[in-house]
Amino acid sequence: MAADNRLPAVIGHRGAAGHAPENTLAGLRKAHDLGVTCVEFDDMLSADGVPVLFHDETLERTSDGTGRLSSQRWEDLQKLDAGSWFGPVFAGEPIPSLHQAMAVLGALGMKANVELKPSRGQDAMTGVITAKTLQESWPAVLPAPVISSFSGKSLVAAADQAPEFPRALLVWEFPDDWRARADAVGATAVHASRKHLTRDQARAILDAGYALRIYTVNDGTEGARFYDWGAESLFTDYPERIVPR
Ligand code: G3P
Ligand code: MG
Repeated sequence: MAADNRLPAVIGHRGAAGHAPENTLAGLRKAHDLGVTCVEFDDMLSADGVPVLFHDETLERTSDGTGRLSSQRWEDLQKLDAGSWFGPVFAGEPIPSLHQAMAVLGALGMKANVELKPSRGQDAMTGVITAKTLQESWPAVLPAPVISSFSGKSLVAAADQAPEFPRALLVWEFPDDWRARADAVGATAVHASRKHLTRDQARAILDAGYALRIYTVNDGTEGARFYDWGAESLFTDYPERIVPR
C-alpha cells in the first residue's frame, strides 16, 4: 500500500460547522480565519448535475428550501438561503457550487477533502461528475483533493474518471470487511467514526498501511487520545478545541 498524500492534523468539518453554517463559503472562510489549512465538505448533485456543497438529501434542515436537493436545478438552488438557520449574521448565505468552493479554496490556499454524498440512486453519477469537475478546475496551486465517501460505488466511479486523486473509505459502524472494501476502491486511507472505532481497529488500519482519520472530534481530550492511537487527522467542527499533533 503506497503512502497516502498526508492531510493536516486538523481538518475543518463541513467548513467550520461549529462557527458558521455548514458547507458554505462563509464556513470555508471561517475555517481559514481559525488557522485551519484543510477543510472537509459534502458534495451532492443538483437535478441538472451541478455538484454543490450540501449534506442532507433534503433541503429543510440547512436552508429555506423544501424537498430533495436532487430534484432542484442549480439556478433555483442558488436562490436559497443556507445561512439564516445558523444565525442572522449569515442571512442570505447561499448553497455554493463546487466551482465556487474551489475558487475560494484556491484564493485562501486551503486543502480539501471532498466527500461524495450521492442522493439515492446517483452514486456513480456523483462520483464521475465530481471527479471530472475537480480534474477540470481544481486550483493548480493546491495539492490534489482527497475524495472520500461512504459509497463504494461513488468511489469506484470517481477512480475510473480520475485515478490521480487519492481516495478514502468512510465508515460508520466499523465493518468486518473494511479492508476488502477499502481495497475495492483503491483507498489509501480510512475515515472512521469516533463513536464506533476501537483502539484495536485503529491499529489494524495502521498495520495494513492505511492512513487513519477520525470524524467528528469536538473535544480536545478525546482528540489527544486519537492522536495517541495514530490518527493522522481529526475532523472537527471546532478547530480551536483540538491541539494538533
Ligand atoms: O467526512 C467525514 C464526515 O463528514 C462524515 O460524516 O455525515 O458528517 O458527512 P458526515
Ligand atoms: Mg461529511
